[in-house]
Amino acid sequence: MTEITDPVVLMKQEVGKAAANRVQSNSIVGLGTGSTTAFALQYIGERLQKGELTNVVGVPTSFQAEVLARQYGIPLTTLDVIDHIDIAIDGADEVDPQKNLIKGGGAAHTREKIVDALADFFLVVVDSGKLVEKLGSTFLLPVEVIPMAVHPVMRALTKLGGTPELRMGIRKAGPVVTDQGNLVIDVKFEAIANPAELEKTINNLPGVLENGLFVGVTDLVLVGEIIDGKPSVREF
Ligand code: 5RP
Repeated sequence: MTEITDPVVLMKQEVGKAAANRVQSNSIVGLGTGSTTAFALQYIGERLQKGELTNVVGVPTSFQAEVLARQYGIPLTTLDVIDHIDIAIDGADEVDPQKNLIKGGGAAHTREKIVDALADFFLVVVDSGKLVEKLGSTFLLPVEVIPMAVHPVMRALTKLGGTPELRMGIRKAGPVVTDQGNLVIDVKFEAIANPAELEKTINNLPGVLENGLFVGVTDLVLVGEIIDGKPSVREF
């Protein structure tokens, strides 16, 4: 395996490992999406393989999580056949001091919100670059929209004070299409004053499926840092 030297990737790896170590045997785990959670999935798989963990099943939040879980040997289940989730592990694009989040950098926030909000314990894993004083300072707010409603929703988001743009694919012509077959509008808000209110207001626009504000759902944030040149993890 190639050695990781990029400090951000090292922080993600360390925090992913720390999250995987919090998973217990006989549990149902929400499997988040993104490059940080990918490390958590890798280490959950390793612990299962070593026999350190037994009887763990995962609920994937995206096509990506499903593919990685299969690759790492994590058995999967669906919300149709379980009545609870013990712990969900997921990344974030921004985390404020109240542990509210912006998510959806991977366009998976709709399924992520369903799974993360159902979990008895929602554990967020981020590198230190994701911590902000006010949500919206560094990251655009993702909004998943049914394709026919893109233009009316963009106009409504502008009226709310945002600057919306349709997310375009990379190495794919045209817009990003979500796992549900919808589109994503990324909205610049100059620091979000009231995340709880904005979350509800946007979700109330006809044609919006879900936005990336996660308010009041996080139980614990694990933050990956580099201290004295070495990756470490602190709780927040
Ligand atoms: C996907 C997400 C991710 O969790 C978020 O974008 C963080 O990703 P990464 O760990 O790659 O920085 O919300 O929709």
